[in-house]
Amino acid sequence: MSFETDFIVIGSGVAGLRSSIELAKSGARVTVLTKDKASESNTEYAQGGVAVVLSDDDNAELHEGDTLIAGAGLCDPSAVATLVTEGTVFIKQLIGWGTRFDRDSGKLIFTQEAAHSRRRIIHANGDSTGAEFVRALIARAGRERSIDLTPFANTESLIVRDGRCVGVRFLDPILRTPREVFGRAVILCTGGAGQLYQHTTNPSVATGDGMAMAYFAGAEMADMEFVQFHPTALNIPNAPRFLLSEAMRGEGGILRNKFGERFMPNYDDRAELAPRDIVSRSIVAEMRRTGTRNVLLDMTALDGGFLRHRFPKIYETCRLYGLDISNDPLPVSPASHYCMGGIRTDLWGRSTVPGLYAAGEVTCTGVHGANRLASNSLLEGLVFGARAGRAAVEDSASLKGPFLPRDLSSDAPPSDQTAALSTAVRKRIKRVMWERVGILRDRASLERALKEFAQISSGNLSTSSRNFVTLATLVATAALWREESRGGHYRTDFPDQHDEWRHHSIQVIGKPIGTAEKMDFDISSRV
Ligand code: FAD
Ligand code: SIN
Repeated sequence: MSFETDFIVIGSGVAGLRSSIELAKSGARVTVLTKDKASESNTEYAQGGVAVVLSDDDNAELHEGDTLIAGAGLCDPSAVATLVTEGTVFIKQLIGWGTRFDRDSGKLIFTQEAAHSRRRIIHANGDSTGAEFVRALIARAGRERSIDLTPFANTESLIVRDGRCVGVRFLDPILRTPREVFGRAVILCTGGAGQLYQHTTNPSVATGDGMAMAYFAGAEMADMEFVQFHPTALNIPNAPRFLLSEAMRGEGGILRNKFGERFMPNYDDRAELAPRDIVSRSIVAEMRRTGTRNVLLDMTALDGGFLRHRFPKIYETCRLYGLDISNDPLPVSPASHYCMGGIRTDLWGRSTVPGLYAAGEVTCTGVHGANRLASNSLLEGLVFGARAGRAAVEDSASLKGPFLPRDLSSDAPPSDQTAALSTAVRKRIKRVMWERVGILRDRASLERALKEFAQISSGNLSTSSRNFVTLATLVATAALWREESRGGHYRTDFPDQHDEWRHHSIQVIGKPIGTAEKMDFDISSRV
């Protein structure tokens, strides 16, 4: 049942596809395992676009500065510099590979999003940028004969031997049984964990599996308390929270309360284009003040023809709910959207466990700090996906195969696969996360959440259930530890930001929470 390859990539979003392409350049065998169909990922649903320095009035220093400000003192400047400078190179390469961004008379169109000092967001098919990324990257990866992609292959755990990650255990979609694959290195590109929360913009695959797997393998996890809540998810009772892109506010959308009053200028001078955490908290405050479950995103001042052309997917989706975005104010409220925290990696995607690399939303590279600047994550997936692929090849050049261990018995699947996480338990965790570890937190709410998670953890759980509740525990633990408010982490009992908290939280299995001054680390110090 076990087999051997050279490199194992988990996930087929922007980071997984880009790292696979990089690995394949070396001629190595690349096995990509992905949980659902190849295109199903956060990447596929990305709307607003990708931030990149390409317009005449922009430069790397400006993009860097905006990213650092959004990150509220916790970005690693070297990671940000890498992102913005290499980002331009990788986007040009992506265009060379056939990615079609929106243009006017042949020139790229740049849009505005919150906290960007320039119009620097390029987009595709109006509001379907991610789908175009996925289309182009799958097509490019398909040209590499050494890439073997298996869809519907759910990876459950990492295999670590003598302190090195040597493979993964996954459920074979055809045989419907656990299997193991071994190789030179594993690159986790499993994306974020928006699904930890009751209300999220993320698709169902975004359950943070890679973060939990890495934690159990002994990797350091950083900044788990920082979760970004997008201010404007369509709020229709009993419907999934469909994202209404920030670019809608960038193009002139206004937020109103139930009385039709514009309220954002009362909370922040930047009004609708204040950073996301501020807009989300302002919406919560306004909903509480007016006793409602949503506010309204008003696009009605904009031309209907322009809106249909600029936001075709949003236009069509709203129409299915009986809403005409050019005539009807749209009910919105915040929803969990992005994890700033994740597996600690250096600038080359190396985790603290030898043989284990990671890229994209599953990581904490130091690029986003306490709050991600809008549209920086597609760029991160490209830049750091390629870097992780390159490092995995170079670092493992001297490793000699075969990689398939002779004594496979000790790598047998975990004994008890019973008690799959029931829908009811998963719902309970998501509700607790939303109510107690959400946009506003305090000591009492976090302690209550941790108590509930401990109770769930004490039960007989399947591997995926254990992963889910462990991740919830990591977020709540870090949120309880950080006694200040910064970026995506807001404590009502500690509402101010303090310099003495200007460091990263680090969690490692079996140890109390620790700190680090920066994400990058000396690889000679790896465990
Ligand atoms: P993903 O794209 O999420 O890919 C993760 C992959 O891992 C998937 O293929 C998944 O199936 C697979 N996977 C997960 N668990 C397992 C497992 N156990 N076993 C096997 N495979 C697994 N960012 C921007 O920069 N610009 C935007 O406009 C933008 N809009 C967004 C809109 C929405 C609605 C959402 C949800 C996010 C948006 N983001 C945007 C954020 C951005 O899309 C993501 O951060 C980014 O795409 C993450 O890429 P990734 O490759 O790290 O992960
Ligand atoms: C959006 O279009 O509002 C999402 C952009 C992002 O999350 O970066």
